[in-house]
Amino acid sequence: MSPARSRVAQSLPAYPLAGFKEARLALQANGVDVIDLGAGDADLAPPPTVVDAMQRAVEDPTSSRYPFLVGLPAFRQEVSAFMQKRFGVSADENSEVLPLIGSKEGLAHMPFAFVNPGDVAVMPDPGYQAYRGGTLLAGGEPWMVPLRPENDFLLPLDQLPAEVVARTRMLFLNYPNNPTAASAPDAYFRQAIDFCREHDVVLVHDHAYSEIAFDGYRPPSVLEYEGAREVAIEFHSLSKTYNMTGWRLGWAVGNAALIGALTQIKTFVDTGAFLGVQAAGAAALQSWEEWVPGNVAVFQARRDRAVATLRAVGFEVRAPRATMYLWIPVPSNEPSRDFARRCLDQEGVMVLPGAGLGEGGEGFFRIALTVPEDRLEEAASRLGRLL
Ligand SMILES: Cc1ncc(COP(=O)(O)O)c(C=O)c1O
Repeated sequence: MSPARSRVAQSLPAYPLAGFKEARLALQANGVDVIDLGAGDADLAPPPTVVDAMQRAVEDPTSSRYPFLVGLPAFRQEVSAFMQKRFGVSADENSEVLPLIGSKEGLAHMPFAFVNPGDVAVMPDPGYQAYRGGTLLAGGEPWMVPLRPENDFLLPLDQLPAEVVARTRMLFLNYPNNPTAASAPDAYFRQAIDFCREHDVVLVHDHAYSEIAFDGYRPPSVLEYEGAREVAIEFHSLSKTYNMTGWRLGWAVGNAALIGALTQIKTFVDTGAFLGVQAAGAAALQSWEEWVPGNVAVFQARRDRAVATLRAVGFEVRAPRATMYLWIPVPSNEPSRDFARRCLDQEGVMVLPGAGLGEGGEGFFRIALTVPEDRLEEAASRLGRLL
């Protein structure tokens, strides 16, 4: 029996990298030394204190109980303290913070709380798949806006058609941005907040890369700006900051009405992240000062080495102020998928084609700084042979 999938399921886009993983596995099976720069999943370890906290929590029988959405009070407290310390943002730990099973889960559930069939959610193209997937699953209409170099990869709000704006209930933004590695200036955040206040739109800011920033740059929280409290909710993640992608822990922060709406949806879908993981998350946030700057320095050194070696072999590369990615123009006239496929088939280097996260990313490819410097250098010299 092969039951017909629902209309919503059928509306979901096809998996963008069909064929790539299989091709990589086939190459590896043939002994090719593949360098995988495709996924944003670093090779580095989490802080030792996090592992210790998890080990202790696992021994404690109370960790094995249902977390429910209240979760671990210590984690909520650390999140609230972190928001204050890093951004000067006050957030009540009970009503304005919500632990998530990774930020992806929260991002994907947001449209269920505010988007009706026929409503639009405006989002970046290319962009993280959860924005589009969550919107489609909720019955909404994704309005994908290309992020292009002529706009510094900012989503141009003033170019949205009036008819679309009238139907827009949600705006997804993500700066520092995956995949373009762009950051947004203060004026842009202010413009986005004004736009959302004027048009009664929920501003969803995805801040997964808030801590991976270089050269003294501190990416701001959208909640730092005047008026943001009325319209904005922000999503944070421990995945990239603490090399904890597989642990699945993040949080949402924003005003009590927005947090309450997301909590209501989640109540029917999940029962919270394992309390042991939340204890580890509290330990991670506590370790920020002694641990995060050193981890960021590793990414900065990788960025510098990758940018220098890619430029030396002939690529045109901008050095980003944040994220673990380089967003590089495809050096030929071929579609980004074809170029990425040649990188893999001919040189054993897996990169992400720009169009892999949306057609607006066509003309670019992404490199993730997820391997040591010498491997990045090796990858750059291999890629240079394709020029
Ligand atoms: C822009 C962006 N948002 C959210 C996430 C999801 O992070 P998490 O592991 O917290 O679900 C990612 C992960 O790659 C990302 O790149």
